[in-house]
Amino acid sequence: MHHRPAAARRPTGPVPLLLLLALALTGCGQDRYPQTALQPLSDFARIGDHIQDQTFYWALGVFILVEGALLYAIFRFRGRPDDPEPAQIHGNTTIEIIWTLIPALILAAIAVPTVKGIFETGMTPSGQLLKIEVIGHQWWWEFRYPEYNLTTANELHIPTGRTVELLQHSNDVVHSFWPPRIAGKRDVFPGRQTRLWFKADSAGLFPGQCAEFCGIQHARMAFQVRASSPEEFDAWVAHMRTLGPRPAAGAQAGDSLKTASAGGTVQGPQAPAQADTARPAADPEYAKGEQLFRAKGCIGCHSLQAVDAPHGLIGPNLANVGAREYIAAGWLKNTDENLEHWIREPQSLKKGVLMPNLGVTADEAKALRAYLRAHK
Ligand code: CUA
Repeated sequence: MHHRPAAARRPTGPVPLLLLLALALTGCGQDRYPQTALQPLSDFARIGDHIQDQTFYWALGVFILVEGALLYAIFRFRGRPDDPEPAQIHGNTTIEIIWTLIPALILAAIAVPTVKGIFETGMTPSGQLLKIEVIGHQWWWEFRYPEYNLTTANELHIPTGRTVELLQHSNDVVHSFWPPRIAGKRDVFPGRQTRLWFKADSAGLFPGQCAEFCGIQHARMAFQVRASSPEEFDAWVAHMRTLGPRPAAGAQAGDSLKTASAGGTVQGPQAPAQADTARPAADPEYAKGEQLFRAKGCIGCHSLQAVDAPHGLIGPNLANVGAREYIAAGWLKNTDENLEHWIREPQSLKKGVLMPNLGVTADEAKALRAYLRAHK
């Protein structure tokens, strides 16, 4: 084996530095880089951003002072050919003390907002919390809403203006839940609960990412946070409450549920008149897909009911998969083409995923796609 010394590969001089800086600055554009923590959209995210800002300005001040002094010394005290030997000194205790004290004071100044931020983000928020259970799986996210007895996957729906408390754990290994514009990272462990809270102030679809290496598809363990107005969120909840093969206990017609906007009530959904609410009128593709969903064993790992969904299934809940922006945990846009490709060859799209290639033909994939697409 041939090894080059590390020093030979280390970039030196101003050009790599400038390139690095340019690269770093391109990260600031929110359109091309939507996973930026520098444009926070919630109270929690602003706490972290505020600490980052303060640290940055302290560091900028130090940089200007130190580099300025360095440049001044380089030019002002530059050696010339005829210069005599400079005076040899051992050191200067006063200066040593000063330049030990100054960084200590700066660190103390940064520690104040940092420690405050740690306590603020770790506290239990008060008020009408919307509790959502977050379960990490290799490699997708399960979201359960105990308040509404609803389950979904990979697309977290939240109302704006109401504090959401995420109660998180993992089904397998350690993951980390990170929606950069909404909140900081929070590790997700098996056998232990962690909490994360935030109050989103803007509606929109915001990407998030698993931020702890959790296996070969860690990079494709993404999710979306869909924040919407309380009214829209209520409508989503009411709609989701109709997605089940049977009416859930407590979801009878005329029942009311708590609204997202804190405390009030909205009319509950009518109990579905027929068992399968996703069924379009007499679509042969749908009927074929429905039959294949059972025959190919899909039903063993995926639930199609949002209400009263079973715990502990291996695959993501698909009750509203037809309406999601992405499939495969944020990895593929939810187009018909991608959905069919995924159904046929999950292993070539996301190697190592627990869903095997099931030997589905192109025609079968089309039927399964039609069936799943109808589940919105
Ligand atoms: Cu889950 Cu990385």
